[in-house]
Amino acid sequence: MSKKFFYAILALFVSTSFSWAKEYSVAQVYTNMCSKCHGDHAQGNPEKKAPALNDMSKGELAYSLFDLVANGSQSSGSSHEVMEHNQKKIAAKGMTYHPDDMALYIYATFNKNAKLSQKDEFTSDGSKVYSVADIYKRMCSKCHGIDGTGIAEKKAPAINDMTKNELEATLYDLQSDGYQSSGSQHEVMSHNQSKIEEKGMRYHPEDMASYIYYNLNPDAKK
Ligand code: HEC
Ligand code: HEC
Repeated sequence: MSKKFFYAILALFVSTSFSWAKEYSVAQVYTNMCSKCHGDHAQGNPEKKAPALNDMSKGELAYSLFDLVANGSQSSGSSHEVMEHNQKKIAAKGMTYHPDDMALYIYATFNKNAKLSQKDEFTSDGSKVYSVADIYKRMCSKCHGIDGTGIAEKKAPAINDMTKNELEATLYDLQSDGYQSSGSQHEVMSHNQSKIEEKGMRYHPEDMASYIYYNLNPDAKK
């Protein structure tokens, strides 16, 4: 089997398995898990005794959520209705969230007085906005060079001589390996998906492949 054909199959397989492992944005988690008590606009709901969240600062939200998440992981509730925020229930539905991300989401979306720095802006699905160009500059250029010519010291190969298909197939490969807990013979940990996600720097292999190919490959056919 040719390497190219193998990668094509692998890419297909990986893209299908991505859609199986459903991930939820904080916006989806809020809508599914929080809005029924705290309201669609975080205005609160007296019937459920759920307080408004749209008047809290980002810091207050993050603090409360850390607290709720921590209490919810304990087996019994406290005087507060922390079981409503039960971390295990949330996790069972695959709806875990990081308190900081949820705090930022609620604050940015519902608090009319929110003051946002540019890096806090959200897309409609609640994810932070980083273009593939930003991600390349922040996450990739330190090893592959800002022009994609590679940096020998980091053992990082040139990637500005690869075709768009080669790039795409390799990036699928790196992302799927990066999901596994330990590295392989390749330095896949450099491309560790969970690290990338922690920083809110997820990218789609196809988008990154296009970015690298059209911007860095001198022979790119536009
Ligand atoms: C079944 C109803 C219910 C659901 C679902 C629920 N909450 Fe709550 N929430 C409450 C109640 C009641 C309180 C106040 C009592 C307490 O602190 O436990 C509260 C308190 C809070 C507070 C602290 C507010 C303050 O004034 O200190 C935050 C923040 C919060 N919830 C966020 C969330 C988020 C985020 C979700 C979704 C992941 C969520 N809640 C889901 C009922 C709910
Ligand atoms: C810490 C250094 C480091 C960082 C950061 C890094 N890489 Fe890599 N990359 C490597 C090394 C080393 C290799 C070669 C070994 C391997 O395949 O893991 C490689 C391989 C690659 C390849 C395959 C090249 C080939 O010839 O097959 C591509 C494509 C790639 N990286 C893209 C990226 C992108 C896109 C990013 C940013 C999201 C990134 N890399 C971040 C070090 C890095």
